[in-house]
Amino acid sequence: MTVTLVTGGTGHLGRDIVERLVCGGHRVRLLARSPGRRSDVEWAIGDLSTGAGVREALQDVDTVIHAATYSPIARRGGVRPIDFFKSPPTVDVEGTERLLSFCQQQSVRHFLHVSIVGLDDATLPYAKVKLAGERLVRASSLSWSVVRAMPFYYLLDKMLAGLAWLPVWPAPTTLFNPVDTSDVADHVVTCAFDGVRGERAEIGGPEDLSLATLAGQYRDARGLHRRILPIALSEAKARGMGFVVSQGVRGRLSWADWLQYRYARA
Ligand SMILES: NC(=O)c1ccc[n+]([C@@H]2O[C@H](COP(=O)([O-])OP(=O)(O)OC[C@H]3O[C@@H](n4cnc5c(N)ncnc54)[C@H](OP(=O)(O)O)[C@@H]3O)[C@@H](O)[C@H]2O)c1
Repeated sequence: MTVTLVTGGTGHLGRDIVERLVCGGHRVRLLARSPGRRSDVEWAIGDLSTGAGVREALQDVDTVIHAATYSPIARRGGVRPIDFFKSPPTVDVEGTERLLSFCQQQSVRHFLHVSIVGLDDATLPYAKVKLAGERLVRASSLSWSVVRAMPFYYLLDKMLAGLAWLPVWPAPTTLFNPVDTSDVADHVVTCAFDGVRGERAEIGGPEDLSLATLAGQYRDARGLHRRILPIALSEAKARGMGFVVSQGVRGRLSWADWLQYRYARA
């Protein structure tokens, strides 16, 4: 059986991708910095930022799903002033370049790269790093696919949790459609094995809502008493911050249902 290598398989999206691959009967290998608990996958220990273990991880691999990233904002769930000046390129640019090069040497047949909707207009350094990594994939001689996704619900949840201490939450009124990783994983796995290559349909959530509305739903789900302060952004500013409506595939899980699942159980 051919092997599918998933990078970032221990991350939020990666875990959902791996679950679908395993359930679909694929032989799955994860490139990870340390082994996880799953015993129904192969663990290849490696680090994209140094290249350690990456060549070995690609042994007998047919398809690579590249979902690893290093986003300081996502890690801490909030934006700091430093994030407006720089974002480390070691995983998303240098790591992607290394991975592509080893994939070429090992004749990998399909390289699926996970990316973000609206990168071309986005201004944050992390977005520029992601765009640079994506361009390397597009320029490679491998058979590649790029799947761009809207921001994930888990990240929205983390960012709003970081605001929770404030009595008033400033929130833009521009519409966008964040999405759950479960829906993105379904789409990514379909794109990995349907035989089509190149630029794939981007994926966003089922509803176009403003951050002000999403924040209100979050506040109510958590039973908090906060005022939402709606902020109108210019179109250019909103696009620069990634507030766009994705016109591609729509996920099924709404933010309200995601919140219900997350907070009603808690
Ligand atoms: N978050 C969003 O809102 C969003 C929206 C659209 C698209 N995306 C894209 O979707 C993909 C997954 O995002 P996510 O939010 O699910 O990511 P995440 O939860 O932050 O997970 C990142 C993954 O990358 C791995 N990783 C980090 N540094 C590494 C290194 N040096 N070597 C090997 N692996 C390394 C992490 O492994 P460890 O467990 O060892 O840290 C983890 O498995 C990324 O391509 C991201 O750009 C994200």
